[in-house]
Amino acid sequence: MRPEVICLMITSPDGSLHPSRWTRSPNGTRSDWSALYEKVHKDHDANAWMVGRVTMAEISKAGPHEPAGPHGVVRPHHFAKPDATSYAIALDPSGKLHFAGPELYGDHVVVLLGSDVPDSHLAELAADGVSYVVSGQKDMDVGAMLELLGKELGIRRILLEGGANVNGSMMAAGLVDELSLIVAPALEARKGSDRIVEFGEEGLAGKVELSLISCEPLSHGALHLRYAVQRSS
Ligand SMILES: NC(=O)c1ccc[n+]([C@@H]2O[C@H](COP(=O)([O-])OP(=O)(O)OC[C@H]3O[C@@H](n4cnc5c(N)ncnc54)[C@H](OP(=O)(O)O)[C@@H]3O)[C@@H](O)[C@H]2O)c1
Repeated sequence: MRPEVICLMITSPDGSLHPSRWTRSPNGTRSDWSALYEKVHKDHDANAWMVGRVTMAEISKAGPHEPAGPHGVVRPHHFAKPDATSYAIALDPSGKLHFAGPELYGDHVVVLLGSDVPDSHLAELAADGVSYVVSGQKDMDVGAMLELLGKELGIRRILLEGGANVNGSMMAAGLVDELSLIVAPALEARKGSDRIVEFGEEGLAGKVELSLISCEPLSHGALHLRYAVQRSS
């Protein structure tokens, strides 16, 4: 069974992805709202989080490097730590991401890769203690890859945490079960700025439908909005 996927984001009422560009509020500060986000992250009780390639590059910061020692390359998957208690998953179709070690924020790293990724990249990941799954087909079937992570690593709930591109593509593919938003009392309002979900020119109309699960006022003027996400019928 595919793990449950909850898209968890902090945003402003105008859907901004960048808290550093927000207006101020007498209700609270960015660090107050970030602390609320961290609490809600914990409360969701997931055992994995997942981000797109661009966001993961900002987190991992590592550059390409030669693997230490010779490494036999295994396809289609290599699980370096199948007994980890929590996982950090990245979607990286072209193998552009690099890691300094097997963990980020204490969570074991798993990279979902496209079928064309060369052996040299897999050798680097394995040498760094990172787990990976290589797609069996040209177009990545992310749903099948997540199912495999459920089966092999016991991943039961994933928090999908951006950016806009991965959130949109996962929603369009029908792979998101819930949208969970911390909405702060602030605005960005810049023309053309990033929103928390984006799906190219098409958008998501006709692809998904949201229905409200709950709306809970939090401290510091923030709201926690939860929506069930379903494919459009
Ligand atoms: N404020 C916040 O809370 C927050 C949270 C997260 C991120 N961010 C910000 O968001 C920005 C990055 O967002 P972004 O939208 O540009 O990028 P992103 O979503 O982090 O990454 C997008 C990339 O991930 C890969 N990808 C996405 N969906 C895929 C799919 N279904 N199958 C295979 N690969 C897929 C593609 O990689 P390739 O390009 O290699 O094909 C795609 O270009 C950063 O500035 C970051 O700081 C902010």
